[in-house]
Amino acid sequence: MKKLLHIIATPRGEESRTLKVADAFLEEFRAEHPDWAVEDLDLSKEELPSLTLKRVDGKYILLSGKDLSGELKEAWEEIVRHIERFMSADGYLISTPMWNFSIPYTLKHYIDVIIQPKYLFRYTAAGSEGLVKNRKMVVIASRGGDYSAGKARAADFQEPYLRAIFGLVGITDISFVVAQPMDMGPELQKQKINEAQQAARAAAKF
Ligand SMILES: Cc1cc2nc3c(=O)[nH]c(=O)nc-3n(C[C@H](O)[C@H](O)[C@H](O)COP(=O)(O)O)c2cc1C
Repeated sequence: MKKLLHIIATPRGEESRTLKVADAFLEEFRAEHPDWAVEDLDLSKEELPSLTLKRVDGKYILLSGKDLSGELKEAWEEIVRHIERFMSADGYLISTPMWNFSIPYTLKHYIDVIIQPKYLFRYTAAGSEGLVKNRKMVVIASRGGDYSAGKARAADFQEPYLRAIFGLVGITDISFVVAQPMDMGPELQKQKINEAQQAARAAAKF
């Protein structure tokens, strides 16, 4: 069975607008893909390893092309466990609100844990090479304001950042479904959630 890893970056559970859109995606996705299992990774409930000096030292050793051993290898066990879980998926769904023009710190922490040389990318003479091959990603985002083209708010560091960092590891087939604006009145919120749910169902054809 194939696996869709659903990475959840809002702590708001039932109250979450992002997850209302993600639910529409998942309903359609399950109907379209009965051969896929969906696994939730709720970052607000996950104890992610801190990037201590030992673990960061390990990263530099890997960057230099060497393998880890002894204490550093031990310190990396938790990181490797998260990398293996990420790599065990055949596709990804990220549900994330915009926080301070970008992503919540839990998602940034997760990215800092899993995006590691030798595991997710490597440097070659020609530059960096992503090692996460043939996997699609859908990002469902919601935002209090409206950052769509032509709007005054131009500070969207969420979509460009996620495209760049997952592009580095080889995930270039990324679709975004964005519900916005969420915090400019209940009527507009309802309408925009409905529109995003429709777009999410279409994206679930995958
Ligand atoms: C800490 C924090 C920071 C936020 N920063 C932004 C922001 O920079 N721009 C924006 O449009 N909305 C911002 N918001 C609003 C959320 O993006 C918006 O309410 C979103 O719909 C919340 O999604 P959720 O209900 O799935 O958690 C912020 C909310 C929080 C809690």
